[in-house]
Amino acid sequence: MAEPSPSILLRNCCLISPDQLDQLARPVDIAIEDGKIAAIAPHLNYTAKVELNMQGQLVSPPFVESHIHLDSSMTVGDPRWNASGTLFEGIEIWRDRKQSLTLADVKERAIATLKQQAMQGVLYVRTHADVSEQTLTALQGLLEVREAVKDWITVQVVAFPQDGVYGGPQNEALLEEALKLGADAVGGIPHYELTREDGVRSVHRIFELAERYDRLIDIHCDEIDDDQARFLEVMVACAIRSGMGSRVSASHTTAFHSYNNAYAFKLMGFLQRTSINFIANPLINITLQGRADTYPKRRGVTRVKELWQQGHNVSLGHDCVQDPWYSLGTGNMLDVASMAVHVCQMTGTTEIDACYNMVTWNGAKTLHVQDEYGVEVGKPANLVVLDAESRYDAIRRRATVRYVISQGRLIAQTQPPNPQWMVDEVTSPSAQLPGVPV
Ligand code: FE2
Repeated sequence: MAEPSPSILLRNCCLISPDQLDQLARPVDIAIEDGKIAAIAPHLNYTAKVELNMQGQLVSPPFVESHIHLDSSMTVGDPRWNASGTLFEGIEIWRDRKQSLTLADVKERAIATLKQQAMQGVLYVRTHADVSEQTLTALQGLLEVREAVKDWITVQVVAFPQDGVYGGPQNEALLEEALKLGADAVGGIPHYELTREDGVRSVHRIFELAERYDRLIDIHCDEIDDDQARFLEVMVACAIRSGMGSRVSASHTTAFHSYNNAYAFKLMGFLQRTSINFIANPLINITLQGRADTYPKRRGVTRVKELWQQGHNVSLGHDCVQDPWYSLGTGNMLDVASMAVHVCQMTGTTEIDACYNMVTWNGAKTLHVQDEYGVEVGKPANLVVLDAESRYDAIRRRATVRYVISQGRLIAQTQPPNPQWMVDEVTSPSAQLPGVPV
């Protein structure tokens, strides 16, 4: 019988898994055929069209971007820079910028950002689309992008009423229209509604819409330093009563950082009755929060470590790439994980591994794609090869993603930097710079 002939064969891979120490991973070969993982074994006696020797480097399922705004990405400085650095000035700037949105503008920037992310190993993305403007241009553009890129990256679109469900006369209807047009999830921003009552009402409305249209929920919740912003408790109550559980995600929840412990511990108890997901955005929230403080300044990132210790599914997002809220960023999820390690003080070895899991497996759970996610026989061949020997090594050095394989195709490769120490050579005549006398 002829030996199998897969399209791609990866030899000598350090294949990691979420619950096992990376040092225990034994080298394996991985065969890819017809877009799927065909076989995994210590040695496969196959001949492939493309064969790559990984030399013990890390093979991981792809990175998952749990929270980004592709409609505003790459608009930094247009029409102006965010001088105060606050969330609210960012919203004002975006309100001006979005008046000039066109489909082509949204799609061009979104696809450019997705390519940048995919080249760095991100193959699943949840993006928010602002649905507070009359034409729904951001949403329409991102729905078209979702379709245009589906052969190499999976995109989910959240209908996000940036100016509040009740912040304008049309907003509630626009949110529902976005679901009719095909948004994957319903979003909200209760702490930015005009009143506390509107905020509570908006959360109830979001749950109603999600149930009626059978969509996921992802709410920008309590993204403020105000310790009286308490819409997470409303989400928890709705999640308990609706039974929607893991279909619900609470993004940001930065006020959780500022709650007094008596309230925070009570809330932690209620959370045990749900399975909602938490999405933290440490790059952005370490930048935006604490802006009204003098000293000491709050970190303002939600209680990632404690939520993780309590067994909740916590994933991480980049949130913004070069937009009115965050002028920096390249979409690299190892930057995000590294910031979480620092800001959330998760420097133990299992804690560092947990932060890596937050940009991979946990994100897949948040996006509800866990059934197809993971480097396992029979699953779609989506994986990355890192210039690293462990998750710790990958985060510490923000390792280069050497190969990105999406649906069985090699879609990107990057050579790791190869710096060379030149002091000895510079002092020798043979390394003399052209035109420079010795
Ligand atoms: Fe956001």
